[in-house]
Amino acid sequence: MNFLQISLIIYLVGPSIELTITEINEPPIFMTIHPYERRTIIFNDARDAILQSLNLSKGCELTSLQVQFETQEFTIIQPQDLSEVDFEQDTILNFRQFVSMIHITDGMLAITSDSIAYLLKFNYDTVFEHDFVEKGQQFAKILWKVDLQIIAPSLVTKNELPQLLFAPSSDQVFLLFSDSAQVFSMKQMEQKANALEVYQITDWRKRVYRGLTKEIDGLVFSAVGLDGLDVYKIILKDLKFIKNLKLKDLGLNSQIEIVDFAIVKHGTTQKYYSIFLLDKQCGLLLVDVHLDQYINFGLRSWISYQSGGISVDTRNGRNVFMAYQSMNHYYVLEYNVDLNNGNYFLIRKKKINHRIIDLDATEDFVIVQGVNQHLILFSNGYDYVMNHHKDQIFKHLGLRDFVFFNQSYKLEDFDDITKEYQYDDFFFGITAQSAFLTRFQIEPIKMKCLYYQTDIGQTFTYTVQYNTTGKDVQDLVVRHTQIVNIEIVKTYFYETEYLLFYLIGFIGLILIMGLGYLGYQYWKNQREYTKLEAIDKSAREKGQKQNNVSSTIKEDQTTVFQQQNRSIEP
Ligand SMILES: *[C@@H]1O[C@H](CO)[C@@H](O)[C@H](O)[C@H]1NC(C)=O
Ligand SMILES: *[C@@H]1O[C@H](CO)[C@@H](O)[C@H](O)[C@H]1NC(C)=O
Ligand SMILES: *[C@@H]1O[C@H](CO)[C@@H](O)[C@H](O)[C@H]1NC(C)=O
Repeated sequence: MNFLQISLIIYLVGPSIELTITEINEPPIFMTIHPYERRTIIFNDARDAILQSLNLSKGCELTSLQVQFETQEFTIIQPQDLSEVDFEQDTILNFRQFVSMIHITDGMLAITSDSIAYLLKFNYDTVFEHDFVEKGQQFAKILWKVDLQIIAPSLVTKNELPQLLFAPSSDQVFLLFSDSAQVFSMKQMEQKANALEVYQITDWRKRVYRGLTKEIDGLVFSAVGLDGLDVYKIILKDLKFIKNLKLKDLGLNSQIEIVDFAIVKHGTTQKYYSIFLLDKQCGLLLVDVHLDQYINFGLRSWISYQSGGISVDTRNGRNVFMAYQSMNHYYVLEYNVDLNNGNYFLIRKKKINHRIIDLDATEDFVIVQGVNQHLILFSNGYDYVMNHHKDQIFKHLGLRDFVFFNQSYKLEDFDDITKEYQYDDFFFGITAQSAFLTRFQIEPIKMKCLYYQTDIGQTFTYTVQYNTTGKDVQDLVVRHTQIVNIEIVKTYFYETEYLLFYLIGFIGLILIMGLGYLGYQYWKNQREYTKLEAIDKSAREKGQKQNNVSSTIKEDQTTVFQQQNRSIEP
């Protein structure tokens, strides 16, 4: 009885993209509920929904799509870790505080302003536990603490925050400054080597500005502002400079100023990447990267001409977020990009009421990182799709640097623990003094119902309209219409109660059978007992006569037994 009704409406978006809105009438749902019973219908994949009650009843309501958070935090740098000198100096970095961190295979490496590196390993038991109710429960432990002062002269004197970079392919960590870079082995650090071997990168280019630096498949990309984009190759314990990209290499005749970029692998072959380059003046460019014997860049499309760029990020290469500042206002743009043909269109433009520091995207949403207040924007948030959705704000005081947990780093032993929480994910990072871990979970749209005694016998009709989005541009918007009928009933034997009824019947049957068996056993025993008693009685009568004989026999038996026993022994 599945009478789907599908109709299509075609919209034109942008110069070349046709958007189809698919309309689906879902088969109606009929639900019976008790008074005071809470029932919930979950609309998985729905991005936005509206509820209409044909009877103007308020028994059911919708909860919107949101992300739930649980945060656990523990302080690493205690007041006693600060020295007298810290209080005397007068720079922003004078107090020992965390300035940078990275995700390593099963934990993180964080560095302080005075170049102390902390190696933290996850306590997976705690990490994957569902509620962080217990305060002080530690999701990670400090495995090692190493003073890198010698190799990274106090950052206070350098007056620059370093970047850490982990290259999983070679298990090495790079400590990067604008004018110098060092590398050491993660393995050595994990083994708490007495003398950590640190190598200087001789080929590292001195730059005035050093933005995001990222590793992918043994290549290191570094945004260097007015100097463009530098590319290095990891060779053993070293970096080899291979390319500097300027806008003229892309056939553009402007001054370059790369502030951020996002890189994604493109296609199945190893050698193609797509990079979203954010230029402070020119805006957002989609550039193809082809790695052959040399590395080649080719401009694919000029996505945005907006100046004032701050940050760009994408996880899937399709929903691309860009943050920028214009006058004193901050905005986020979301683009839908097709990496195969370079086509793109603007999904939405959103004004943000606070300063934007950074953007961090997952498959489903992007965190617009502010100073203390952060905003969650869902991907696929095509303006048409999420008309009724309110963006969600979450606060994390002093959040300084964080990363999303990379699922492919998951330890094999913990595979089955994590399978249970399919939608669970987390990010973790640092504040000035502490490490934190935030678990997040996407709460789908739900229709929650509750009715009372007075509503018994009545049926209420609701219409739920919700939008989903497909993976293709073609079915970016699917509008569903779902009728839900709710009957309030008081009789007992329906739905779940049927099961209970059968269960009680079944238990009853077992009880009766059990009792029958016990009865039978009792009766059997009773019969045996009477028999035995009869035998016993006749034996006692005989026994009185043969008493002496019986005891002699007993003694004999013992002797025999002992002898046998002895004879067994050699
Ligand atoms: C879904 O999409 C349609 C068409 O773009 C839009 O009119 C509507 O407001 C959206 N939201 C809901 C809940 O239907
Ligand atoms: C609610 O509306 C439906 C459809 O109009 C109707 O069949 C039903 O009887 C109404 N229920 C109540 C309690 O008014
Ligand atoms: C996660 O780690 C794998 C393996 O190192 C890497 O290929 C992948 O790009 C990482 N994913 C993210 C989102 O960083």
